[in-house]
Amino acid sequence: MTPNITPSTASNKAEFYSDLELQIQAVVDGQRNWVTNLANTSAVIYHGLRAITGKPINWVGFYVLDQEAKTSSGAPKEALILGPFQGKIACTNILFGRGVCGTAAAEKRTLLVKDVHEFRGHIACDSATNSEIVVPLILEGRVIGVLDLDCEVTEGFDEVDQAGLETVAKILVGACDWRGVI
Ligand code: SME
Repeated sequence: MTPNITPSTASNKAEFYSDLELQIQAVVDGQRNWVTNLANTSAVIYHGLRAITGKPINWVGFYVLDQEAKTSSGAPKEALILGPFQGKIACTNILFGRGVCGTAAAEKRTLLVKDVHEFRGHIACDSATNSEIVVPLILEGRVIGVLDLDCEVTEGFDEVDQAGLETVAKILVGACDWRGVI
């Protein structure tokens, strides 16, 4: 079954994000599987945002909590593992506190990075990336994953993206069955 998504008629980014909210509601309508919903969300954002902004957004996807991550002594370790995405092959494992994704996860807040070369510890999965935004997915106070977008130009994202993507993250957190992640 394909989600019944109404194509966006947006002429600017703010309109795109109000349409996006409805599109993500349609993605999760009758579907609770997190892999399925994160995969379709990545596709909707990647193709939609590239079209409306004309910017070279080169990666849109998710990292989720890695239940298998352990310290050398076998104790559980807070880490993220690559989830569904659109774009080129990406790093698979990121510790909480590392890179933009792990820092957003550890600090439980969105990181809007206008120039990744000025972010100490940025993990360069693709050397073409120059800006990035990472939005945590928070369930009952706990970070269960992050939504990550990369762009090939500096200042690829702004506060409009932040507000829109935070809304998407909230919808997904509430609508998915997170078995396997938590
Ligand atoms: N740049 C990220 C790593 C993930 S990729 O961008 C897909 C980071 O610094 O955490």
